[in-house]
Parts: sequence; C-alpha cells; structure tokens
Amino acid sequence: MPTPSMEDYLERIYSLIEEKGYARVSDIAEALEVHPSSVTKMVQKLDKDNYLVYEKYRGLVLTSKGKKIGKRLVDRHSLLEDFLRLIGVDEEHIYQDVEGIEHHLSWESINCLGYLVNYLQADPSRVEELQRIKREEEQKEE
Ligand code: CO
Repeated sequence: MPTPSMEDYLERIYSLIEEKGYARVSDIAEALEVHPSSVTKMVQKLDKDNYLVYEKYRGLVLTSKGKKIGKRLVDRHSLLEDFLRLIGVDEEHIYQDVEGIEHHLSWESINCLGYLVNYLQADPSRVEELQRIKREEEQKEE
C-alpha cells in the first residue's frame, strides 16, 4: 500500500493527467507546494514501486496499477467532499478538511460513508432535516 505522502502524489498526478493530459515535475511541485527536487525523489520511488514510469526528459506515465490507485484516491477525495458538503460544512473548510482526513480512514469507513452519502442524496428531505437540526443547534448557541 502507498504511504500517505505517496497517496498525495498519486492523487495529484492522476488529476493533472485527467485535466491536462500530462503531469510534469514542475506542475506537481506547484500543485503540492513542494520543491521540485522532492517531487523527483518521490517520482523515482513511485517508479520503483511500479506506480509509474519516469523518464527524465520525457515525463511520466502512470502504469495500470498507478492509474487504478490514482482513480480510487481521486474518487475518495470527492466522496469525502460530498459528505462534508451534505452534512453542512462550510465551503471554506471542505478542501483542507478532506486533505486532513483522507489518508487516515480505512476503506471500510470510506465505503460506509459512501452508503451514507447515497442515502442522503436519495431523498432531499433527509438533507433538509439535517440542515434544520444544524440551524436549531446553531440558534441555541447564539
Ligand atoms: Co486529496
């Protein structure tokens, strides 16, 4: 299994390739706010573990194993965003909160959250009820 930091890279590389068709070391460094030399080091490690193929002057390509895991990580990220949004978390906290929790949940918990998201989305009155409870609690605090 990839480490949390490898997961961050694979997630980012997968979305860069989805968006632009390629992922350069400089793009990855910018997206993750790290030094390009750290990216090169990690990319070499990911290459060694067969997640991608890296050639210095030709860029990098995800292997089928890298693609499969990359997609899973990107889907996990958006599932967690959907979850926080549905339970009423402010937009300004969603991205950072997901970055903070995504690597620390088991796939079992992720799947169960997925069922909950489906349950909430299946009937708008479920989300409305939750919003009503949140409003009520917030009014008590004021
Ligand atoms: Co993420």
